[in-house]
Amino acid sequence: MDTSHLLNLREFEPLARGKLSQMIFDYYASGANDDVTLRENEAAYQRIFMRPRMMAGNAARSMNVSIFGQPMNAPILIAPMAYMKMAHPDGEAAVARAAAARSLNMIVSTSATMSVDEIAAAVPEGSRWFQLYLYKDRAAARDLVGLVGAVGYQAIVLTVDRTYLGRREPDIRNNFGLPPPLEVKNLPPDATRDGLAAYVSPLFEDNLRWSDVEWLKSITSLPVLVKGVLRGDDARLAIAHGADGVIVSNHGGRQLDTAIPAIDALPEIVQAVGDEAEILVDGGIRRGTDVMKALARGAKAVLLGRPVLWGLALEGEVGVGRVLDLLLQELDLALALNGCRSIEDVTPDLLAGYMPVRESIGY
Ligand code: LAC
Repeated sequence: MDTSHLLNLREFEPLARGKLSQMIFDYYASGANDDVTLRENEAAYQRIFMRPRMMAGNAARSMNVSIFGQPMNAPILIAPMAYMKMAHPDGEAAVARAAAARSLNMIVSTSATMSVDEIAAAVPEGSRWFQLYLYKDRAAARDLVGLVGAVGYQAIVLTVDRTYLGRREPDIRNNFGLPPPLEVKNLPPDATRDGLAAYVSPLFEDNLRWSDVEWLKSITSLPVLVKGVLRGDDARLAIAHGADGVIVSNHGGRQLDTAIPAIDALPEIVQAVGDEAEILVDGGIRRGTDVMKALARGAKAVLLGRPVLWGLALEGEVGVGRVLDLLLQELDLALALNGCRSIEDVTPDLLAGYMPVRESIGY
């Protein structure tokens, strides 16, 4: 379906719903229990107001950032998401191509329907991180992390909020299973890779401890980020055990319902580890102004999730590109209207509630 007439990220979801089967749409769309966190992730951004700076002489602007020394065109990464071939036959490769064409980073999921090396071979020009679900079988996990490094992935994102699967009632109602012939590719060699087993995945460690971060650091030279942190003390523990960054996340509202909206958890974590680690945030980003607010609260970058799947479902790589271009354009306009010339100019005083010690001296 042609998506060129769509004007913002929210417009993609209802159209994608019409295109996907109920089981597949529900799997991507649903949150846990009553969807409170799912809704509030987005709503929380709309409760934050800005105090834009005028007369900044900012007709020339840049959105470039660098994370772990890795240049990115904008502070927007593709969030790790499972089973992309359910949305479109081109799956992860289509998303990787759309991201690479815009010099944006993609975080590839352990639960991808293409293997890490297939994706790297299909889109060699892309920059990528890998999201790891730690296997109980540590030897298999070590092999996977080694492979990921060998084929050029540039960081490991350890997801820590999915020791157990959140209760997603639509999936139970639909008896969700990965539709054949699709398989989860990045599992240990002897694992069951299809259907319901892939979803429930008893292979993943359900007894995670902070020492597992140390173990991960000991087997890779890549930066390690811990994804799924919602408290300052946990962020401190992550860093104390060797993590290089944290991703503030409630798993898109899919795990613990009524967990705090990600953007509202961010300030505590910035206060706890902001000087020592890279902090990213995901959940609820739908507008360029949302990205601005996350950056103004101290995130280095944001992860974009479901809208990417909706673009993929509607128009493959082109649809993902449309989603990304809309968000990039909106972020640039938000920078323009806030008097910013670069991402470094996005500072806490741009948000309502900021109490100035003294007025800015202007440009
Ligand atoms: C989910 C897991 C796969 O949220 O991350 O469905």
